[in-house]
Amino acid sequence: MTLRISVIGTGYLGVTHAACMASLGFTVIGIDINAEKIAQLSAGILPFYEPGLEELLNSELAEGRLSFSSDISSAADCDVHFICVGTPQVKDGLAADVSYVDTSIRTLAAVAKSGSLIVGKSTVPVGTAERLRNDILKINQEIDLAWNPEFLRESFAIEDTLHPNRIVVGVANDRAEAILKAVYAENLAEGTPWIRADLPTSELVKVAANSFLATKISFINAMAEVCEAAGGDVTVLAEAIGYDPRIGHKFLGAGIGFGGGCLPKDLRGFMARSKELGADRALDFLREIDAINLRARVRVIELVRRDLSDDLVGKRIAILGASFKPESDDVRDSPALDIAAQIQAAGAIVSIYDPKAIESARRSFPALSYAGSIKECLTDADLVLHLTEWKEFQSIDPREYISIVRNPIMIDGRNKLDRDLWQKAGWTFRALGRSAKN
Ligand code: UDX
Repeated sequence: MTLRISVIGTGYLGVTHAACMASLGFTVIGIDINAEKIAQLSAGILPFYEPGLEELLNSELAEGRLSFSSDISSAADCDVHFICVGTPQVKDGLAADVSYVDTSIRTLAAVAKSGSLIVGKSTVPVGTAERLRNDILKINQEIDLAWNPEFLRESFAIEDTLHPNRIVVGVANDRAEAILKAVYAENLAEGTPWIRADLPTSELVKVAANSFLATKISFINAMAEVCEAAGGDVTVLAEAIGYDPRIGHKFLGAGIGFGGGCLPKDLRGFMARSKELGADRALDFLREIDAINLRARVRVIELVRRDLSDDLVGKRIAILGASFKPESDDVRDSPALDIAAQIQAAGAIVSIYDPKAIESARRSFPALSYAGSIKECLTDADLVLHLTEWKEFQSIDPREYISIVRNPIMIDGRNKLDRDLWQKAGWTFRALGRSAKN
Protein backbone atom coordinates (compact mmCIF):
# COMPACT_ATOMS: atom_id res chain seq x y z
CA MET A 1 0.00 0.00 0.00
CA THR A 2 1.31 3.46 -0.90
CA LEU A 3 1.69 5.68 2.13
CA ARG A 4 -0.44 8.79 2.28
CA ILE A 5 1.51 11.73 3.57
CA SER A 6 0.53 15.14 4.87
CA VAL A 7 2.88 18.07 5.20
CA ILE A 8 1.77 20.70 7.71
CA GLY A 9 3.18 24.15 6.94
CA THR A 10 3.88 25.09 3.34
CA GLY A 11 6.81 27.45 3.71
CA TYR A 12 10.19 26.80 2.18
CA LEU A 13 10.74 23.48 3.89
CA GLY A 14 7.14 22.26 3.62
CA VAL A 15 6.61 22.90 -0.09
CA THR A 16 9.95 21.33 -0.95
CA HIS A 17 9.26 18.29 1.20
CA ALA A 18 5.72 17.88 -0.13
CA ALA A 19 6.76 18.11 -3.80
CA CYS A 20 9.74 15.78 -3.29
CA MET A 21 7.67 13.18 -1.41
CA ALA A 22 5.10 13.28 -4.23
CA SER A 23 7.88 12.79 -6.79
CA LEU A 24 8.78 9.58 -4.96
CA GLY A 25 5.26 8.28 -5.69
CA PHE A 26 3.51 9.04 -2.40
CA THR A 27 0.11 10.72 -2.29
CA VAL A 28 0.77 14.01 -0.54
CA ILE A 29 -1.41 16.79 0.84
CA GLY A 30 0.13 20.08 1.93
CA ILE A 31 -1.74 21.96 4.67
CA ASP A 32 -1.39 25.58 5.71
CA ILE A 33 -3.58 28.01 7.64
CA ASN A 34 -2.79 30.69 5.04
CA ALA A 35 -5.59 30.18 2.49
CA GLU A 36 -4.02 32.61 0.02
CA LYS A 37 -0.82 30.59 -0.06
CA ILE A 38 -2.81 27.38 -0.51
CA ALA A 39 -4.66 28.92 -3.48
CA GLN A 40 -1.35 29.95 -5.07
CA LEU A 41 0.26 26.56 -4.55
CA SER A 42 -2.84 24.76 -5.86
CA ALA A 43 -2.51 26.90 -9.00
CA GLY A 44 1.14 25.88 -9.35
CA ILE A 45 2.56 29.24 -8.25
CA LEU A 46 5.54 29.10 -5.92
CA PRO A 47 5.56 32.13 -3.58
CA PHE A 48 9.40 32.20 -3.46
CA TYR A 49 12.30 31.35 -5.74
CA GLU A 50 14.06 28.00 -5.52
CA PRO A 51 15.75 26.48 -8.57
CA GLY A 52 13.60 23.72 -10.13
CA LEU A 53 10.90 23.75 -7.45
CA GLU A 54 8.11 25.45 -9.38
CA GLU A 55 8.58 22.93 -12.19
CA LEU A 56 8.45 20.03 -9.72
CA LEU A 57 5.38 21.50 -8.00
CA ASN A 58 3.56 21.72 -11.32
CA SER A 59 4.51 18.27 -12.52
CA GLU A 60 3.35 16.68 -9.24
CA LEU A 61 0.08 18.66 -9.29
CA ALA A 62 -0.48 17.48 -12.87
CA GLU A 63 0.26 13.87 -11.92
CA GLY A 64 -2.43 14.19 -9.23
CA ARG A 65 -0.14 13.00 -6.45
CA LEU A 66 0.07 16.42 -4.78
CA SER A 67 -2.71 18.65 -3.48
CA PHE A 68 -3.09 21.46 -0.96
CA SER A 69 -5.73 22.46 1.58
CA SER A 70 -6.19 24.96 4.38
CA ASP A 71 -8.36 22.50 6.30
CA ILE A 72 -6.33 20.27 8.61
CA SER A 73 -9.05 17.62 8.69
CA SER A 74 -8.12 16.90 5.04
CA ALA A 75 -5.03 15.25 6.53
CA ALA A 76 -7.08 12.91 8.74
CA ASP A 77 -6.63 9.91 6.45
CA CYS A 78 -2.86 10.18 6.11
CA ASP A 79 -0.46 7.60 7.53
CA VAL A 80 2.45 9.98 8.10
CA HIS A 81 2.30 13.70 8.90
CA PHE A 82 5.38 15.90 8.54
CA ILE A 83 5.41 19.07 10.63
CA CYS A 84 7.22 21.79 8.69
CA VAL A 85 5.96 24.99 10.33
CA GLY A 86 8.33 27.82 11.23
CA THR A 87 10.05 28.42 14.56
CA PRO A 88 11.14 32.08 14.30
CA GLN A 89 13.16 33.91 16.93
CA VAL A 90 10.86 35.39 19.60
CA LYS A 91 10.49 39.18 19.41
CA ASP A 92 11.73 39.84 22.95
CA GLY A 93 14.66 37.43 23.27
CA LEU A 94 16.96 34.87 21.70
CA ALA A 95 14.73 31.79 22.03
CA ALA A 96 12.82 30.06 19.23
CA ASP A 97 9.05 30.51 19.16
CA VAL A 98 7.53 27.02 19.08
CA SER A 99 3.89 28.12 19.23
CA TYR A 100 3.20 27.13 15.58
CA VAL A 101 4.64 23.66 16.20
CA ASP A 102 2.62 23.25 19.40
CA THR A 103 -0.64 24.38 17.83
CA SER A 104 -0.30 22.40 14.61
CA ILE A 105 0.61 19.17 16.40
CA ARG A 106 -2.21 19.46 18.95
CA THR A 107 -4.76 20.31 16.25
CA LEU A 108 -3.53 17.49 14.07
CA ALA A 109 -3.58 14.93 16.89
CA ALA A 110 -7.29 15.65 17.39
CA VAL A 111 -8.14 14.68 13.79
CA ALA A 112 -5.42 12.20 12.79
CA LYS A 113 -6.35 8.54 12.51
CA SER A 114 -5.15 5.94 15.00
CA GLY A 115 -1.93 4.26 13.96
CA SER A 116 -0.58 7.34 12.18
CA LEU A 117 2.82 8.84 12.86
CA ILE A 118 3.48 12.57 13.31
CA VAL A 119 7.03 13.50 12.33
CA GLY A 120 8.52 16.82 13.36
CA LYS A 121 10.91 18.43 10.89
CA SER A 122 10.92 21.98 12.26
CA THR A 123 13.99 23.05 14.23
CA VAL A 124 12.95 23.13 17.89
CA PRO A 125 14.55 23.61 21.32
CA VAL A 126 15.67 20.29 22.76
CA GLY A 127 12.91 18.76 24.89
CA THR A 128 10.05 19.94 22.67
CA ALA A 129 9.49 16.56 21.01
CA GLU A 130 9.26 14.64 24.29
CA ARG A 131 6.84 17.21 25.73
CA LEU A 132 4.64 17.09 22.61
CA ARG A 133 4.74 13.30 22.46
CA ASN A 134 3.27 13.20 25.97
CA ASP A 135 0.59 15.70 24.93
CA ILE A 136 -0.35 13.60 21.89
CA LEU A 137 -0.60 10.40 23.90
CA LYS A 138 -3.13 12.15 26.15
CA ILE A 139 -5.25 12.96 23.08
CA ASN A 140 -4.92 9.58 21.32
CA GLN A 141 -2.73 6.73 22.62
CA GLU A 142 -2.60 5.25 19.11
CA ILE A 143 -0.75 8.20 17.57
CA ASP A 144 3.03 8.45 17.87
CA LEU A 145 5.52 11.28 17.41
CA ALA A 146 9.01 11.09 15.91
CA TRP A 147 11.53 13.80 15.01
CA ASN A 148 13.38 13.91 11.70
CA PRO A 149 15.50 17.07 11.40
CA GLU A 150 15.95 18.67 8.01
CA PHE A 151 19.33 19.83 6.73
CA LEU A 152 18.36 21.26 3.36
CA ARG A 153 20.19 24.29 2.04
CA GLU A 154 18.20 26.92 0.19
CA SER A 155 19.12 26.93 -3.51
CA PHE A 156 19.87 23.18 -3.27
CA ALA A 157 16.55 22.29 -1.64
CA ILE A 158 15.42 19.55 -4.06
CA GLU A 159 18.79 17.82 -4.24
CA ASP A 160 19.21 17.95 -0.45
CA THR A 161 15.69 16.56 0.13
CA LEU A 162 15.87 13.75 -2.40
CA HIS A 163 19.52 12.87 -1.72
CA PRO A 164 20.39 13.98 1.82
CA ASN A 165 23.88 13.19 3.12
CA ARG A 166 22.31 11.53 6.19
CA ILE A 167 18.89 10.79 7.63
CA VAL A 168 18.45 11.28 11.35
CA VAL A 169 15.36 9.88 13.04
CA GLY A 170 14.50 10.48 16.66
CA VAL A 171 12.11 7.72 17.67
CA ALA A 172 10.70 6.24 20.85
CA ASN A 173 10.17 2.73 19.44
CA ASP A 174 10.81 0.32 16.54
CA ARG A 175 7.41 0.88 14.94
CA ALA A 176 8.07 4.59 14.35
CA GLU A 177 11.47 3.75 12.85
CA ALA A 178 9.89 1.14 10.55
CA ILE A 179 7.39 3.69 9.19
CA LEU A 180 10.17 6.18 8.51
CA LYS A 181 12.20 3.46 6.80
CA ALA A 182 9.25 2.93 4.46
CA VAL A 183 9.14 6.67 3.68
CA TYR A 184 12.88 6.82 3.02
CA ALA A 185 13.20 3.41 1.33
CA GLU A 186 14.82 4.89 -1.79
CA ASN A 187 17.48 6.67 0.24
CA LEU A 188 18.20 3.54 2.23
CA ALA A 189 18.63 1.64 -1.05
CA GLU A 190 21.08 4.36 -2.17
CA GLY A 191 23.12 3.75 0.99
CA THR A 192 22.35 7.07 2.71
CA PRO A 193 23.60 6.86 6.32
CA TRP A 194 20.69 6.22 8.67
CA ILE A 195 21.01 7.40 12.25
CA ARG A 196 18.48 6.30 14.84
CA ALA A 197 18.54 8.51 17.89
CA ASP A 198 16.41 9.30 20.89
CA LEU A 199 14.15 12.34 20.63
CA PRO A 200 16.43 14.87 22.39
CA THR A 201 19.52 13.84 20.42
CA SER A 202 17.67 14.18 17.12
CA GLU A 203 16.65 17.74 18.05
CA LEU A 204 20.20 18.58 19.11
CA VAL A 205 21.78 17.25 15.88
CA LYS A 206 20.21 20.06 13.89
CA VAL A 207 21.27 22.97 16.09
CA ALA A 208 24.70 21.42 16.63
CA ALA A 209 25.24 21.14 12.84
CA ASN A 210 24.17 24.72 12.20
CA SER A 211 26.26 26.00 15.11
CA PHE A 212 29.29 24.19 13.72
CA LEU A 213 28.77 25.69 10.26
CA ALA A 214 28.35 29.16 11.77
CA THR A 215 31.51 28.63 13.82
CA LYS A 216 33.49 27.74 10.71
CA ILE A 217 32.36 30.92 8.93
CA SER A 218 33.07 33.12 11.94
CA PHE A 219 36.44 31.46 12.45
CA ILE A 220 37.55 32.48 8.97
CA ASN A 221 36.08 35.96 9.43
CA ALA A 222 38.09 36.30 12.65
CA MET A 223 41.16 35.30 10.63
CA ALA A 224 40.17 37.97 8.11
CA GLU A 225 40.31 40.59 10.86
CA VAL A 226 43.80 39.43 11.87
CA CYS A 227 44.92 39.36 8.22
CA GLU A 228 43.78 42.95 7.78
CA ALA A 229 45.72 43.99 10.87
CA ALA A 230 48.83 42.04 9.91
CA GLY A 231 48.89 42.73 6.18
CA GLY A 232 47.93 39.16 5.23
CA ASP A 233 45.43 37.67 2.79
CA VAL A 234 42.61 35.56 4.22
CA THR A 235 41.76 33.95 0.87
CA VAL A 236 45.27 32.48 0.64
CA LEU A 237 45.15 31.47 4.30
CA ALA A 238 41.79 29.70 3.80
CA GLU A 239 43.06 27.87 0.75
CA ALA A 240 46.15 26.73 2.61
CA ILE A 241 44.45 25.47 5.77
CA GLY A 242 41.60 23.89 3.79
CA TYR A 243 43.90 21.35 2.15
CA ASP A 244 44.13 19.63 5.51
CA PRO A 245 41.28 17.13 5.13
CA ARG A 246 40.46 17.52 8.81
CA ILE A 247 39.66 21.17 8.08
CA GLY A 248 38.39 21.16 4.46
CA HIS A 249 37.69 24.12 2.18
CA LYS A 250 33.94 24.33 2.60
CA PHE A 251 32.45 27.14 4.69
CA LEU A 252 35.77 28.95 4.83
CA GLY A 253 34.56 31.76 2.59
CA ALA A 254 35.48 35.00 4.39
CA GLY A 255 33.32 38.04 3.82
CA ILE A 256 30.26 39.74 5.28
CA GLY A 257 29.20 36.53 7.02
CA PHE A 258 26.12 34.43 7.42
CA GLY A 259 22.46 35.37 7.39
CA GLY A 260 19.22 33.70 6.35
CA GLY A 261 16.36 32.12 8.20
CA CYS A 262 18.37 29.40 9.94
CA LEU A 263 21.96 29.94 11.04
CA PRO A 264 21.53 33.17 13.08
CA LYS A 265 18.24 32.08 14.66
CA ASP A 266 19.36 28.53 15.44
CA LEU A 267 22.55 29.73 17.08
CA ARG A 268 20.60 32.07 19.33
CA GLY A 269 17.87 29.57 20.08
CA PHE A 270 20.52 27.02 21.05
CA MET A 271 22.15 29.47 23.49
CA ALA A 272 18.78 30.36 25.03
CA ARG A 273 17.82 26.71 25.50
CA SER A 274 21.18 25.71 26.97
CA LYS A 275 20.79 28.50 29.52
CA GLU A 276 17.40 27.12 30.55
CA LEU A 277 19.07 23.73 30.94
CA GLY A 278 21.87 25.19 33.09
CA ALA A 279 24.49 24.44 30.41
CA ASP A 280 25.01 28.02 29.21
CA ARG A 281 28.78 27.97 29.87
CA ALA A 282 29.12 25.24 27.22
CA LEU A 283 27.78 27.55 24.54
CA ASP A 284 29.32 30.84 25.66
CA PHE A 285 31.54 30.73 22.58
CA LEU A 286 28.48 30.97 20.30
CA ARG A 287 27.97 34.51 21.59
CA GLU A 288 31.37 35.35 20.12
CA ILE A 289 30.52 33.54 16.87
CA ASP A 290 27.43 35.74 16.57
CA ALA A 291 29.42 38.88 17.42
CA ILE A 292 32.18 38.15 14.86
CA ASN A 293 29.49 37.59 12.26
CA LEU A 294 27.75 40.90 12.94
CA ARG A 295 31.11 42.69 13.08
CA ALA A 296 31.83 41.66 9.48
CA ARG A 297 28.91 43.88 8.42
CA VAL A 298 30.39 46.81 10.36
CA ARG A 299 33.87 46.19 8.91
CA VAL A 300 32.66 46.47 5.35
CA ILE A 301 31.01 49.80 6.18
CA GLU A 302 34.33 50.96 7.67
CA LEU A 303 36.01 50.13 4.35
CA VAL A 304 33.39 52.22 2.55
CA ARG A 305 33.97 55.14 4.92
CA ARG A 306 37.74 54.93 4.47
CA ASP A 307 37.40 55.23 0.71
CA LEU A 308 34.93 58.08 0.90
CA SER A 309 36.83 60.23 3.42
CA ASP A 310 34.49 59.18 6.22
CA ASP A 311 31.63 61.16 4.69
CA LEU A 312 28.73 59.18 3.26
CA VAL A 313 26.24 62.05 3.03
CA GLY A 314 24.96 62.32 -0.52
CA LYS A 315 27.37 59.66 -1.84
CA ARG A 316 25.92 57.21 -4.34
CA ILE A 317 26.63 53.61 -3.34
CA ALA A 318 25.81 50.82 -5.78
CA ILE A 319 25.06 47.50 -4.10
CA LEU A 320 25.23 44.24 -6.01
CA GLY A 321 23.14 41.63 -4.19
CA ALA A 322 20.19 41.66 -1.78
CA SER A 323 19.46 38.01 -0.93
CA PHE A 324 21.31 36.32 1.94
CA LYS A 325 22.94 33.94 -0.53
CA PRO A 326 22.94 33.44 -4.32
CA GLU A 327 20.24 31.46 -6.17
CA SER A 328 17.66 32.49 -3.58
CA ASP A 329 15.25 35.40 -3.16
CA ASP A 330 15.27 34.98 0.63
CA VAL A 331 16.20 38.22 2.37
CA ARG A 332 15.68 37.09 5.96
CA ASP A 333 18.55 38.53 8.01
CA SER A 334 20.38 39.29 4.78
CA PRO A 335 23.80 40.82 5.51
CA ALA A 336 23.58 42.67 2.17
CA LEU A 337 20.35 44.49 3.07
CA ASP A 338 21.46 45.15 6.63
CA ILE A 339 24.58 46.87 5.25
CA ALA A 340 22.52 48.75 2.65
CA ALA A 341 20.16 50.05 5.35
CA GLN A 342 23.04 51.16 7.60
CA ILE A 343 24.75 52.96 4.72
CA GLN A 344 21.53 54.72 3.79
CA ALA A 345 20.95 55.71 7.41
CA ALA A 346 24.41 57.33 7.33
CA GLY A 347 23.23 59.64 4.55
CA ALA A 348 24.28 57.78 1.39
CA ILE A 349 22.02 57.23 -1.62
CA VAL A 350 21.95 53.49 -2.25
CA SER A 351 20.94 51.64 -5.38
CA ILE A 352 20.52 47.87 -5.07
CA TYR A 353 20.43 45.30 -7.83
CA ASP A 354 19.75 41.58 -7.38
CA PRO A 355 18.84 39.06 -10.10
CA LYS A 356 15.93 37.53 -8.12
CA ALA A 357 15.42 39.21 -4.75
CA ILE A 358 14.32 42.76 -5.61
CA GLU A 359 10.65 42.04 -4.91
CA SER A 360 11.22 40.34 -1.57
CA ALA A 361 13.79 43.01 -0.63
CA ARG A 362 11.33 45.78 -1.47
CA ARG A 363 8.72 44.15 0.78
CA SER A 364 11.10 44.02 3.75
CA PHE A 365 12.98 47.28 3.09
CA PRO A 366 10.59 49.55 1.17
CA ALA A 367 12.64 52.65 1.97
CA LEU A 368 15.71 51.43 0.05
CA SER A 369 16.13 52.15 -3.69
CA TYR A 370 16.36 49.38 -6.23
CA ALA A 371 17.68 49.21 -9.79
CA GLY A 372 16.46 47.06 -12.67
CA SER A 373 19.89 46.17 -14.05
CA ILE A 374 23.57 46.17 -13.16
CA LYS A 375 24.04 49.17 -15.46
CA GLU A 376 21.29 51.20 -13.80
CA CYS A 377 22.67 50.26 -10.38
CA LEU A 378 26.24 51.35 -11.20
CA THR A 379 25.43 54.58 -13.04
CA ASP A 380 27.14 57.56 -11.33
CA ALA A 381 28.21 55.41 -8.35
CA ASP A 382 30.85 56.81 -6.02
CA LEU A 383 31.58 53.27 -4.86
CA VAL A 384 30.35 49.75 -5.68
CA LEU A 385 29.77 47.01 -3.08
CA HIS A 386 29.56 43.33 -4.04
CA LEU A 387 27.50 41.72 -1.25
CA THR A 388 25.86 38.53 -2.62
CA GLU A 389 27.95 36.28 -4.83
CA TRP A 390 25.60 35.65 -7.77
CA LYS A 391 27.41 34.14 -10.79
CA GLU A 392 26.11 37.07 -12.85
CA PHE A 393 28.34 39.42 -10.84
CA GLN A 394 31.41 37.25 -11.24
CA SER A 395 31.09 37.46 -15.01
CA ILE A 396 30.88 41.28 -15.07
CA ASP A 397 33.50 42.80 -17.36
CA PRO A 398 34.84 45.68 -15.24
CA ARG A 399 36.02 47.54 -18.38
CA GLU A 400 32.42 47.80 -19.51
CA TYR A 401 31.29 49.78 -16.47
CA ILE A 402 34.28 51.97 -15.63
CA SER A 403 32.97 54.86 -17.71
CA ILE A 404 29.50 54.90 -16.11
CA VAL A 405 30.59 55.11 -12.46
CA ARG A 406 31.76 58.36 -10.93
CA ASN A 407 34.59 56.68 -8.99
CA PRO A 408 35.82 53.21 -9.98
CA ILE A 409 36.01 51.70 -6.48
CA MET A 410 34.87 48.12 -5.92
CA ILE A 411 34.65 46.55 -2.46
CA ASP A 412 34.17 42.79 -2.63
CA GLY A 413 32.28 41.70 0.48
CA ARG A 414 32.31 38.05 -0.58
CA ASN A 415 35.86 37.53 -1.85
CA LYS A 416 34.53 36.09 -5.07
CA LEU A 417 35.57 38.65 -7.71
CA ASP A 418 38.81 38.42 -9.69
CA ARG A 419 40.91 41.18 -8.17
CA ASP A 420 43.52 41.23 -10.95
CA LEU A 421 40.84 41.65 -13.57
CA TRP A 422 39.27 44.61 -11.78
CA GLN A 423 42.60 46.24 -11.00
CA LYS A 424 43.85 45.84 -14.58
CA ALA A 425 40.65 47.49 -15.78
CA GLY A 426 41.57 50.53 -13.67
CA TRP A 427 39.42 49.99 -10.58
CA THR A 428 40.50 50.49 -6.98
CA PHE A 429 39.72 47.08 -5.51
CA ARG A 430 39.28 46.24 -1.84
CA ALA A 431 38.07 43.15 -0.05
CA LEU A 432 37.53 41.99 3.52
CA GLY A 433 40.55 40.21 4.95
CA ARG A 434 42.93 41.26 2.19
CA SER A 435 45.12 44.24 2.92
CA ALA A 436 45.50 46.76 0.09
CA LYS A 437 49.09 45.78 -0.66
CA ASN A 438 48.26 42.12 -1.29
C1 UDX B 1 21.77 26.39 6.41
C2 UDX B 1 22.42 25.00 6.54
O1 UDX B 1 23.52 24.91 5.63
C3 UDX B 1 21.40 23.91 6.28
O2 UDX B 1 21.98 22.63 6.47
C4 UDX B 1 20.22 24.09 7.24
O3 UDX B 1 19.22 23.12 6.98
C5 UDX B 1 19.63 25.48 7.09
O4 UDX B 1 20.65 26.46 7.29
P1 UDX B 1 21.05 27.92 4.36
O5 UDX B 1 20.46 28.86 5.36
O6 UDX B 1 20.32 27.60 3.10
O7 UDX B 1 21.36 26.52 5.04
O8 UDX B 1 22.44 28.58 3.93
P2 UDX B 1 23.97 28.16 3.84
O9 UDX B 1 24.29 27.72 2.48
O10 UDX B 1 24.35 27.28 4.95
O11 UDX B 1 24.63 29.59 4.05
C6 UDX B 1 24.35 30.35 5.24
C7 UDX B 1 25.00 31.69 5.19
O12 UDX B 1 26.40 31.56 5.37
C8 UDX B 1 24.81 32.49 3.90
O13 UDX B 1 24.50 33.82 4.24
C9 UDX B 1 26.14 32.39 3.21
O14 UDX B 1 26.40 33.49 2.39
C10 UDX B 1 27.09 32.34 4.40
N1 UDX B 1 28.38 31.68 4.12
C11 UDX B 1 28.41 30.37 3.74
C12 UDX B 1 29.57 32.40 4.27
O15 UDX B 1 29.56 33.58 4.64
N2 UDX B 1 30.76 31.77 4.01
C13 UDX B 1 30.82 30.46 3.62
O16 UDX B 1 31.93 29.97 3.42
C14 UDX B 1 29.61 29.76 3.48
